[in-house]
Amino acid sequence: NTESLNVAVVGTGYVGLGTAVMLAYLGHHVTGIDIDERKIEMLRRGELPIYEPGLADLLHASESRLTWTSDYAAAIPEADVIIVCVGTPPLPNGHPNLRYIAEAARSVAQNLNGKFQVIVNKSTVPVGTGDWVTRILEDNAPDYHANRYAVVSNPEFLREGTALHDSLYPDRIVLGSASQEGIERLRQLYRRLLEQDFTPPEGVPRPAGLARPQFVTTSLNSAEMIKYAANAFLALKISFANEIAGLCERVDADIEEVVHGIGHDQRIGHRFLVAGAGWGGSCFAKDTAALISTGAEYDYDMPILQAAVDVNRHQRQLVVSKLQRHLHRLQGKRVAVLGLAFKPNTDDLRDAPAHDCITRLMELGAQVVVHDPVAMEQARREWSHLSYQEASSAYDAVRGADAVILMTEWQEYHDLDWEQAVASMRRRLVIDTRNVLRQLPSDTVLEQIGRRRVQETHALPMLPVGASSVHV
Ligand code: UDX
Repeated sequence: NTESLNVAVVGTGYVGLGTAVMLAYLGHHVTGIDIDERKIEMLRRGELPIYEPGLADLLHASESRLTWTSDYAAAIPEADVIIVCVGTPPLPNGHPNLRYIAEAARSVAQNLNGKFQVIVNKSTVPVGTGDWVTRILEDNAPDYHANRYAVVSNPEFLREGTALHDSLYPDRIVLGSASQEGIERLRQLYRRLLEQDFTPPEGVPRPAGLARPQFVTTSLNSAEMIKYAANAFLALKISFANEIAGLCERVDADIEEVVHGIGHDQRIGHRFLVAGAGWGGSCFAKDTAALISTGAEYDYDMPILQAAVDVNRHQRQLVVSKLQRHLHRLQGKRVAVLGLAFKPNTDDLRDAPAHDCITRLMELGAQVVVHDPVAMEQARREWSHLSYQEASSAYDAVRGADAVILMTEWQEYHDLDWEQAVASMRRRLVIDTRNVLRQLPSDTVLEQIGRRRVQETHALPMLPVGASSVHV
């Protein structure tokens, strides 16, 4: 296969793993590099260090073109394209920590082969980082000649939980670089994606009527800004829906009906207007904070973004105030929390609303029992400071509780026999922070976000799992 390239992917987190497996599936030869040897050992055994639906199958289908290593020297010299996907976790001031980027860039530089290689940055980094990486390469590459490599920014827009779908059927591929040659090589890398010239893997079907992805080329700085601006806008949309939901509750309107009505305006659209517990996950909080902090460096306020962040913080407190409205003092009350992950189909706990909710409930003296279909083990490691009780099933969590909080809209919770579940509760109070529950026994108090009491509204269709992918 003459068009197949040798690719090195640096960093095997959610983005790096998805990218590596997807490119191998498209026919490229891919080496995944990670300094975490435990992860590399797992991957060599064919195991995944994270949970992402469908990824294990695709990994096995593409195994013959995938190699895993901790040794840059074993992968970089061979690579036509080097894709950096290391983490950029936030520092206390909101600015992303670029340490891993710098370390990766130095290690890459020391192993460049002197032929033309393209260094792609997929990590989310502040505007100007691509130029900074270019300088690190200049300073650390042996026998530097400017035309030996190109730096390209290629931001990633995939969502956890639907990462494979998002990487195989993207709306657009954004490439920012001053190097035409670099862009051309990436056009070759992504040719099959751009022309949708591949057999969809089992379980990740091509959506009907899919348009080919847009190929967007920009300057390095613009591509870096596109990533932040896109995430900030999505976060803003959700906060807007949450703000309107709060007003709906006060005026006895229903947020579901309202977003249904406004979303049909093509200029607005339905997606990312689902009110709920507020946004979480690895990107939105980090990227909004980073953009605000970049603004601050230039003495430039970003009041709209700041408001979106404030609304989100307030949204997380709402659950507890709804509980207090019915239970008053929470001291000694037994509260079941269903769902720990920040959204369904992932075990990712980063910035999960459940964390803040559980913390607050404990401060108020409640006894908290939790359940999550996949994230319990992760939580045992990462949330060891929270002393909640674990339940082995949702039914066990709910039994004897004074209230249930549905935090993550897993299909499993949707499919519960709610009649049976509420019958085993001490008090029949359900706080559904994701607005997914429909028919509950009539003696149950159901609190949702921005909705009129369900019994009073007209019957709405059942919602599919994953509020973020709902097309009303
Ligand atoms: C996000 C972006 O979607 C993706 O493009 C970017 O590259 C990384 O960040 P992700 O964090 O995986 O992806 O999750 P996403 O599905 O976007 O959801 C983010 C949060 O918003 C979740 O907590 C989700 O529950 C919440 N959400 C989403 C809502 O509350 N309402 C919505 O309508 C959509």
